[in-house]
Parts: sequence; C-alpha cells; structure tokens
Amino acid sequence: MPDQWMPPIKWDDGLVEILDQRLLPHKEKFLSCSTPEQVISAIKKMAIRGAPAIGVAGALALALGARSILTDDPGEFRQKFSKICGKVKNARPTGANLGWAVERLYSIVIENPRAPIPQLRGLILAEAKAILAEDVAVNVRMGQRGLEVVPKGAKILTYCNAGALATADYGTAVGVIRAAFAADPSVSAYSCETRPFLQGARLTVFELMRAGIPVTLITDNAVGSLMSRGMIDLVIVGADRIAANGDTANKIGTYMVAVLAWTHNVPFYIAAPRSTIDQSLEDGAGIPIEQRDPDEVTNLNGKRIAPLGVKALNPAFDVTPGKYISGIITEVGVLRKPFTKTIRKALQQ
Ligand code: MRU
Repeated sequence: MPDQWMPPIKWDDGLVEILDQRLLPHKEKFLSCSTPEQVISAIKKMAIRGAPAIGVAGALALALGARSILTDDPGEFRQKFSKICGKVKNARPTGANLGWAVERLYSIVIENPRAPIPQLRGLILAEAKAILAEDVAVNVRMGQRGLEVVPKGAKILTYCNAGALATADYGTAVGVIRAAFAADPSVSAYSCETRPFLQGARLTVFELMRAGIPVTLITDNAVGSLMSRGMIDLVIVGADRIAANGDTANKIGTYMVAVLAWTHNVPFYIAAPRSTIDQSLEDGAGIPIEQRDPDEVTNLNGKRIAPLGVKALNPAFDVTPGKYISGIITEVGVLRKPFTKTIRKALQQ
C-alpha cells in the first residue's frame, strides 16, 4: 500500500498548500496560503472541500492565524485568536469537522492561560498537524472496519466525493472501496456525477482511476434504473454531519439515493469518522444546510445553460433519516440501529 494516496492539503514550512480541486481532473495546481483569510477563501470557493478536509484546512488556517498575532500579551492573543476562530468556523456551515477542529485548537489557548505566546503558537501548530495525521490513520482504520459489509465481487455505488480529496488522505467511503478492492480485486464501483458541482464525475472517478479501481460513471438520474436491474450490491457514501439519532447530512441528492436503495433492498452505508458526529443535535432537523450560489445550478463549467432570469435554488446538502441507513462505518466499527445507543457508545470509546 502506498503511504500517500492523494493528499489534498499539507503544511510546508509556514505555508498551507492546497490542491485546487476546482481544476481537477485536468490540472493539478497547489494554492500556497500564507494567511488564514486565504485558507478561508479556498474553503468558501471549494478549492478544498469535503467535511474532514475542511476540518484539517481550518486547523492549519488557525496555525497560520496564531503566527500572525504579534503580541506578548496572553489576553490580547486569546481575544484575537478567538476572532480568527469565529471566522474559520463560519467558512462553511454544514460539515461538523470544521467546528470540531476549531474547538480542539481553541481549547489549547484556554487550557494554557499563562503559556508564553511562542510556546502557544508551537502547541497550536502541533495540534493542527496531529489533526491531519489522525485523519489519515482514522480513514485507513475505517477502510478495514468497512470490509465486513462488502460482499465478494460487490458493485458499490458511491455519491459525491468522499475520497482522499475530501479528507487528509485515503478517504472515508472511497477508503472503504480502496480497502475492499485491495482485499478482493473483483470489487468495482459506480460513481454518480453529483450535480451541480460534479464532485463524482471530476474527483471520485479521477481518484478511483488513479488507484486502478474499476469505476463506471453514471448520471445521478440513473441510480433507480440500475438498482431496479440488480446492478448495485450496496451503497457507501460519506457524511458531513451526523445527528445523535443517526440522521445524516451529506451532498444534495444522497437522500434520493437512500430512498431508492431502501425501495430496492440495497444496503445503504455511511462511512464517517467520529469527528463528523454532532451529539448536540438530537436529530437531523437541526443540521444547518448550506445554500450556495444559484449560478452553480444555472451554469455548467462557467457556461450558462438555463434561460437568463430563471429562479434557481441550490441547497448543497440534504438529510437522510437514520431509518434508511443500514449502518455507519466508523474507525471503531460498524454502528447499527438503534443509532442513538450505538453512536453514544462509539463516542465513549
Ligand atoms: O460540498 P462538498 O464537496 O464539500 O460536499 C462533500 C460531501 O458531501 C462529502 O460526501 C462529505 O463531505 C463526506 S467527505 C469524506
């Protein structure tokens, strides 16, 4: 196994290097960010995306932020750092990992009230790097845990991009597909193109092809037809935020896939690290859904496809009720129903 699959972000000597995913699969270009604002802009404009990758980007943005606060006064440092934390946390609302990473770094400042500022900066950078390294390790573990749900020769449908590019490396749902293929080369994948941003067509297909895993690209509209003809054995998708009862927010359209899977008796799995679980939310009704620019719907690749003046809606995520989910693959095992109980137990481990 390679020790690097397709890392979309790295810390390089005081710079945050971000692979600009808007240019993939045609061009591989890194954005060099030296300020938290540049990282925030990369998150907002989707140069980097995917809940765990956004969490890592937020953590590294705060390491840059800590370096930019030029004071010896701990009170002033805390106040300015807290302001940057607020901006980073609000870059995108739906993914839970961003707020989780920000809280983790902010608590370092709170827990070390008398630490000299250079030491604090060092602790913040070390924690941000730890978040990145842990994400890769967790994904590799999740891949192994997911093997138990993948039958021999399975044809796995995935949606959006929950791959290395959506994480620090390796991927969540795509990580399970990687592990399954390594164990059984007769496994193959279907990737939905994922309108409107086409993460499936541009990114998942790119990643799977690079890994030598057989993949077939389909339109989102083809899912029901393929399932009705017995062409899909199971679905594995990622998650942006999971409520305490298992209701799961993921890329818009996931809910449609889940209902179709339910109708056709196709197992539907979520693969996500525990950092995506938000226990403060009882159910999915409280998950904030990002509304993006309607231009992403009316245009394709910068070219207008809908009549000028048409009204368009662009919710970026939807919520799949836990009822439709066969299991949640995490780094500590596959969680089954009742999710309220199994999720609580997984978070205690
Ligand atoms: O809008 P995006 O591209 O950030 O949405 C990404 C998804 O919905 C992914 O499926 C999710 O973040 C899981 S990534 C491991």
